[in-house]
Order: sequence, then C-alpha cells, then structure tokens
Amino acid sequence: MSPKVTKICCIGAGYVGGPTCAVIALKCPHIKVTIVDLNKARIDAWNSPDFKLPIYEPGLDEVVRQARGRNLFFSTDVDKAIEEAELIFVSVNTPTKKSGVRYVERATRNIANIATSSKIVVEKSTVPCRTAESMRTILEANSKPNCRFDILSNPEFLAEGTAIQDLFKPDRVLIGSLQTPEGIRACEALSEVYANWVPKDRILTVGLWSSELSKLAANAMLAQRISSINALSAICESTGANIDEVAHAIGYDTRIGPKFLKASVGFGGSCFQKDILNLVYLSESCHLPEVAAYWRQVVEMNEYQKRRFSKRVVDTLFNTITGKRIAVLGFAFKADTGDTRESAAITLIKDFLSERALVNVFDPQVEHSQIWMDLQEASPLVPLDHIKKHVTIASSALEACKGVDAIVIATEWKEFKELDWEQLYKTMNKPAFLFDGRLLVDAQKLTQIGFKLIGTAIAASLATATLLVSHNTLSKRQRRKHLEEDIK
Ligand code: UDX
Ligand code: UDX
Ligand code: ADP
Repeated sequence: MSPKVTKICCIGAGYVGGPTCAVIALKCPHIKVTIVDLNKARIDAWNSPDFKLPIYEPGLDEVVRQARGRNLFFSTDVDKAIEEAELIFVSVNTPTKKSGVRYVERATRNIANIATSSKIVVEKSTVPCRTAESMRTILEANSKPNCRFDILSNPEFLAEGTAIQDLFKPDRVLIGSLQTPEGIRACEALSEVYANWVPKDRILTVGLWSSELSKLAANAMLAQRISSINALSAICESTGANIDEVAHAIGYDTRIGPKFLKASVGFGGSCFQKDILNLVYLSESCHLPEVAAYWRQVVEMNEYQKRRFSKRVVDTLFNTITGKRIAVLGFAFKADTGDTRESAAITLIKDFLSERALVNVFDPQVEHSQIWMDLQEASPLVPLDHIKKHVTIASSALEACKGVDAIVIATEWKEFKELDWEQLYKTMNKPAFLFDGRLLVDAQKLTQIGFKLIGTAIAASLATATLLVSHNTLSKRQRRKHLEEDIK
C-alpha cells in the first residue's frame, strides 16, 4: 500500500510552485497544502486581502480565492511546513545560469536538516539532468532512523499565460521514480494526488532519468520548431514567400501538426534557452560533441533572429536610427504574462540603444521597475541614468507611439491587434514604419491606412519585385548559366 498523502509542502512560491500547488489544493480539498518561500514580500502578496498576487496568470486569482484559508496556505515558515508534510515539492528558482542548482541544493539540505519523519521529495524545478541523483545523495547521507527519503521527478509542463488551463487539463503528468519497491510506492502516492482530477491514462510513470530528460527534450523540441520556422522566415523575406502561408501549409501535415509554428522575433521565457543549454552541457559531458552542436544551433538561430530583426529596423530607417524615436509595444516574453525572463524585447531595446535611438516602451502587465532592472542587466556597463534618459515607459500604446519614427511589436498582446491604428498613424512621423515581430496585425488593413509594414507578406512581395528585377537584368547567357547551376 502506498502511503496516503494528507499534507503537502511546496518550497518556492514562484511561477511554477505557486499555480501548481494552488491547483492541487483546489482539486484536493482533503489535502493541506502549504506553499513556502524565503521571500517575505512574495508571500505577503500571495496572502494579500485583495488578491493582488505576485504573478499575473489568467484564472489564478479565482483558484486562490476558493482554496486560500481552506486547505491552501502561504507562509515564510519553511521549516514548520517541511516538518509537517509527507510530500514536499521543490520548486525553487530555475535561473538560466548553471548556478541555479544551488537553490535546489540549499532547499534539499534544509529538508535533510529539518525532517524527523519520512518524506517523499519531489523535484519540480526544471533542473539539469541527474539533479535528482544529487538530491538523493544529500538526503541519504542525512537520513536518520525511521526517517527515509524517496525522490521523485515530476517535471512541470505548464506554459505561462495558460498555466491554470494546463494544470486543469494537462496533456500528461509525468512522474519519474527509482524502479525499487519503495520508489514505486512513492510514485503511486503522488499519482493518487493527481488522480483526483487527471484521468489515469494521462499519468505516465517512468524511470527517474527518463523523466528528467523528457522535460529537457520536450522544451528543446518545442524551441527547435520555432527556430526552424524562424530560419524559414529569413528565406521567405529574401524570396517572396510568405512565412504564415508556409507555416499553414506545413502544419496541415498531421505528422508535423499546426502548433508552435508561428514565426517571431525570437523565443524567450525562463525555460527554452536554459533547457537547451542544459542538454548541450549534458551532451558534452557524455562526449557527444556532434549532438551538442546540433542543439546549440537552436539557440544560435534564436540569437540570429533577434539580431536580424534589429538590423532590419536600422536598414529600413535609412541605415541609421541615431536620435530617432522607436516605440516598442510589449516587453513580456509572450502575451498573457508579466514575466520578462529572456524576452526578445530586452535584446531589441539594447540594440536600439547601442545605435543611439530613443525608445518608448509599453507593456500592459510588466512592472516599470522590472523593465529598468532588465535593461540595466542587459547593459551592465551603461549607467542607469543614461538608460533612463533614452528610454521612456509609456502608460498606453497610444502614448508610446506619439511622434515616433517606427513602431515595433515585440509581444503578441491581443490588445495590440485591436488598437485604434488610424489614430496611431496620425500621431506618428511619416513614413510610418511598423515592424511586426509577431505577425500579429492585419497587414492589409494597416497598409491601407498608410503604414509601411515590415515583417509580413508586404515585405515579402517587395523582395519578390527586387528579385524579378535583378533576374530580368541578367543577360541570356548568365541566366542559362544560373539554370545549369541550379540543375546541378
Ligand atoms: C517522404 C515524406 O514522408 C513524403 O511526405 C514526401 O512526399 C517524400 O518523402 P518517404 O521518403 O517515402 O516520404 O518516406 P517516410 O515515411 O517519410 O520515411 C523517410 C525515412 O525516414 C525512412 O527511411 C523512414 O524509415 C525514416 N523514419 C521515418 C524514421 O527513421 N523515423 C520516423 O519516425 C519516421
Ligand atoms: C514553455 C513550454 O511551452 C512549457 O511546456 C514548459 O513547461 C515551460 O516552457 P513558456 O516558456 O511559458 O512554456 O512559453 P511558450 O508558450 O512555450 O513560449 C515560449 C516562447 O516561444 C515565447 O517567447 C513565445 O512567444 C515563443 N513562441 C511560441 C514563438 O515565437 N512561436 C510559437 O509558435 C510559439
Ligand atoms: P520558477 O519560474 O521556476 O517558479 P521563480 O523564480 O518564479 O521560479 O520562483 C522560485 C521561488 O523559490 C522564489 O520565490 C524564491 O524566493 C524561492 N526560493 C529559492 N530558494 C528557496 C529556499 N531554499 N527556500 C524557500 N524558497 C526558496
């Protein structure tokens, strides 16, 4: 018989731990769930009477409203929650740098020191492969009589902006354990928790290493699709093909599928780059340099896409943006989140500033202090005063676009689609350049208003025209030569 779980503790009240354990509490009223964090301000925000939660996630406040104070608690008393719980999720920071493991280690040592009864310890943060093994080593070295630790890996697949939906109806729940009788029992205990709302056939149980690697692999494959479509977008822009049409045509093949084929200014977020780099690191430590190079290229293509985009802006604005004003719409790494980790907007603004442009930025969710922090971190050698002189944070899209030479759409916020573009057009300098880094707006409509749209079919047809002209100016002999080369 697997032990019944009645008390759960979650270490880390961030983007992963917070929503995941809040949903567990909602769906399992018979389990007491305590989410703890060292960061008092964060815990206070989770406990705020008016539900001003520390992260923006559609539907999250409703979940917290229903469960908080019933069987869901937020606290800074980490030790008490550890001691009480039979099952502990570790969902501490997952920073991009390798030092991220440090947080997991610290939390694990804390469990080892505090626990006086047996615990199931669940690795939830996305961490380099084999972290579970280091957690196990720490816990085993510290185990006491009548106090055993079982380690599980239970990676989170939720995407920000749709976290609650993803948690309510997950494609799958993955649980990895050692294939020992104790490991399998621990795995059953956690499966039972999820079985309160997830159909049994969607709860997959595998070995510990398969579980850890699956998380890295899933994110690497998703990111690879975006880099592939972005690489194709570069070809589209020089040949006259339309990337949205190409993506649509490719996605109709059921073997490929239509999702995650949206060309963009580049992917961001806390997971993709970090997980691929973890995979690269893992490949290198397994002495597989070709495999490492293959995955590294997915990240390099993403860097290239961002660079290519800012260069396009400079080239289009007559080869210089010095002293020109650019509106950047969106700062979050994707829509429906206030999270800015690895956001493409940060790189774009950094590039614009280094070309000595002036930037107006607007995002409906990101805190101003976060924008300053990110821009400072991106250019550590530039004093913040200097950055603040060149960047203005606007309180609406309309305000951001007033008097600018170009608009850049960096995040696919739905509200940008529905802006009063006629009004925006009037307030801008002409020619009114619009760089749609998310292929978001209605190209035809905006072109009719008078915008010079870059980044969609319009740019593509311009490119076609250029190609045709240059082809027509070739002599007959040159053309035949090209044809022969093509056939070869
Ligand atoms: C392919 C495309 O599938 C088809 O749409 C296109 O029109 C022509 O090229 P084909 O080459 O006939 O068709 O076979 P396909 O089934 O795609 O397999 C190609 C190769 O990939 C085979 O050697 C197959 O064994 C291999 N393969 C396929 C794998 O190794 N793993 C897989 O998961 C799928
Ligand atoms: C991702 C995974 O989707 C999720 O399963 C995992 O648990 C964590 O990492 P997340 O980072 O929240 O989730 O966002 P996601 O929706 O995957 O988007 C990542 C980035 O890719 C965003 O910047 C997004 O704008 C970009 N993207 C996504 C594209 O550019 N094109 C697409 O077609 C899809
Ligand atoms: P993620 O996106 O992976 O959820 P976040 O940075 O949003 O990452 O959240 C991680 C949280 O974990 C932070 O709020 C941080 O304060 C907390 N944390 C890190 N280490 C510890 C620890 N040893 N004990 C308690 N909380 C911790």
